[in-house]
Amino acid sequence: MATDSASACIRQTERFGAHNYQPLPVVIASGQGAWVLDVEGRRYLDCLAAYSALNFGHRHPALVAAAHAQLDRLTLTSRAFHNDRLGEFMERLATLAGTQMVLPMNTGAEAVESAIKVARTWGYRVKGVPTDRARIIVAANNFHGRTTTIVGFSSDPGARDGFGPFTPGFDTVLYGDAEALAAAITPETVAVLIEPIQGEAGVILPPEGYLAQVRRLTAEHGVLFIADEIQSGLGRTGATFECDNAGVRPDLYLLGKALGGGIVPVSAVVGESSVLGVLRPGEHGSTFGGNPLAAAVGIAVVDLLETGEYQSRARELGAVLGRRLEELVGAGVQSVRVRGMWAGVDIDPDLATGHRVCELLAERGVLAKETHGSTIRLAPPLVITAEEIDWAIDQLREVLAELS
Ligand SMILES: Cc1ncc(COP(=O)(O)O)c(C=O)c1O
Repeated sequence: MATDSASACIRQTERFGAHNYQPLPVVIASGQGAWVLDVEGRRYLDCLAAYSALNFGHRHPALVAAAHAQLDRLTLTSRAFHNDRLGEFMERLATLAGTQMVLPMNTGAEAVESAIKVARTWGYRVKGVPTDRARIIVAANNFHGRTTTIVGFSSDPGARDGFGPFTPGFDTVLYGDAEALAAAITPETVAVLIEPIQGEAGVILPPEGYLAQVRRLTAEHGVLFIADEIQSGLGRTGATFECDNAGVRPDLYLLGKALGGGIVPVSAVVGESSVLGVLRPGEHGSTFGGNPLAAAVGIAVVDLLETGEYQSRARELGAVLGRRLEELVGAGVQSVRVRGMWAGVDIDPDLATGHRVCELLAERGVLAKETHGSTIRLAPPLVITAEEIDWAIDQLREVLAELS
C-alpha cells in the first residue's frame, strides 16, 4: 500500500521518531468530514476519528472558522492574565454539563491527573481524610492515559511494565462488579474513577444499572464519582455524556478529545463548585490550559453539541452500524458491542489479529484500529452517512471472507 512518497514519509518518521506507536502504513495528507486523502491522493473513510477526537469530522466548517477567527486575534496569554474567551467557554461547558465549574487543561491524561489531585485534596479538606492517606478506586482494564501515575494503576502490562516505581493510593476492582466496589470502599476512599464504557479495553459496556449503582454507593459513602468521558462523551454514544444514557450524574466529568474539535488539544474537569472549588491559587495549572484559541474552539464545540444533532446522528446511524455488524456475527466475527456510533468487534482469533484486519481494511480504503488481540474498534465521525457505514461494513465483510 505504501508508495514511494508514502514510504519516504514512513522511513523519516521511523528514523527520527521514538517508536512508541505502530501505525498502519497510510500517510494522510488532508481530510474533510469523514474522509481523508493520503499523499498519493487515495481516499479513505476514517472509521477511527482519532479515537473520538474527530466526532465532528475533519475540519468541520464551524470549528475551522472559529479557530481562524481566533488565530487572527489572540492565541495565548497564559493564566497569568485573563483572556476574553475563557470565561465564556467555561460557563457554556458547565451549563452543557448541567453543573457549575470547569478546570481547563489540554490533554486527556492531564484532565485525569488534575481530577486525581482535586479528589485527594477534596478528601483532606472536605471529607477529613488524614493527610496522605487518600485512596482512589479504579477498574481493572481501565485506560485513562499514559502518564506515570495513570499507568501505575493500569492492569495492562504493555502500558505499565518498565515504568515503575508508581504512585501509591489506588485500589483496583473488577469493572462492572458493584459488590466488589462496595467491598473496596473504606473511610479513606475519596473517589471512584471509571470509564462509563471502557474504550481501549474493547468498547466494553458495563452491565445494565452498574453506573447507577456506582452513583448510589459513592453518594452513600461520601466518595466522589469521577466519570472519564474523554472517549465516551460529547456525542459519541448518542447522548452528550454516556452518563446521560445511564441516567446518572457524576461529581466530576473528565472531558477531552472532541472538546478540541479535532483542531487543538482541549480537556477539562467539570463539576460542582463544592468539589472543584477546593483548589487554591498556585496549587495547579498549565501554561496552555484555558488558552484563548482552545477556548474559542471549545465554545464552537459546545455550540454544535447544544443543537443535539450529533447526539441524534450517533443514535440513528449507530443503529445502522449495529445492525450491519450483527450480520457478521458467525461470519468471521465472534461478537459485537455497540453504543451509539462506537463499536467493539471481536474478530474470530483463528482468522486474524485485529491489526491484520485493519491492514486489510486500509487496503480497501477504510481506516480502523485494533484495541487488543483480535478486537477492532470502529468510531467513525458522527458526520458519516448511512451509505458510508454500509460501504465500510461491506469492506469488512469482504476482508473476513478473504481471510476465511
Ligand atoms: C477514557 C480515556 N481517558 C483518557 C485518555 C487519555 O487522553 P490523551 O491521549 O489525550 O492524554 C484516553 C485516550 O485514549 C481515553 O480513552
